[in-house]
Amino acid sequence: MTKGLFISFEGIDGAGKSSHIEGLAQAFREQGRVVTLTREPGGTPLAEKLRALMLHDAMDPLTEALIAFAGRRDHLVQVIEPALARGEVVISDRFTDATFAYQGAGRGFDWDQLSILERMAQTGTGLHPDLKPDLAEIFMREPDMTLWFDLPAEVAAERLATARVPDRFESQPGAFFARVAQGYARRAEAAPQRFARIDANTSREAVWQQITLAVGHKGWLRFPEGDKA
Ligand code: TYD
Repeated sequence: MTKGLFISFEGIDGAGKSSHIEGLAQAFREQGRVVTLTREPGGTPLAEKLRALMLHDAMDPLTEALIAFAGRRDHLVQVIEPALARGEVVISDRFTDATFAYQGAGRGFDWDQLSILERMAQTGTGLHPDLKPDLAEIFMREPDMTLWFDLPAEVAAERLATARVPDRFESQPGAFFARVAQGYARRAEAAPQRFARIDANTSREAVWQQITLAVGHKGWLRFPEGDKA
């Protein structure tokens, strides 16, 4: 059976992930793969309720981090793990790197504490159906690849200036997004084999080309020669 594949998209608000997520899903479908397209915060009925709280209700940074991981656990158990076990491609608009970037670097919540929560939420019996219980305690689910849309915070702010009514994150000052961007850079540095940095400060076509190169390089998608320039 085809092996499941887990890809996340990350980047500060305004980095321009959305249309490319749909494009990548379509590219996989055209090559015969079944794609589960999902997002965080959210991705299940329970986690979508938690998303609404996270984006609109005031709370302290620990509560925010716990809610992010509670939703993530449900998302993994209900959606991501079953889809991977069926051999599908799971594409998620954000995953755990966002918690490190926003709650960790952005809000200033302790990075090591987040690593503990990460391990708790993404490990354990009931998460991975093929693993024996002793292995399940060691295994930690992470994306196979993270496409990180890197964009200077001030450019993102200009793009967002004309956007809809901002949520609790989008309404933060520029300094917050500068810290979030640094948080992503720190996560990328710690996991260079998982992260593919996409220069998002360029045209839409050039961004798509970087994505096709990164995914094609792994051998997960075949792209026409013309796309490989
Ligand atoms: P986003 O995908 O940008 O939603 P939309 O495009 O509809 O605005 O995500 C919503 C916000 O949630 C975004 O500002 C980042 C934030 N976020 C966190 O703070 N922590 C997390 O763990 C995740 C997944 C997202």
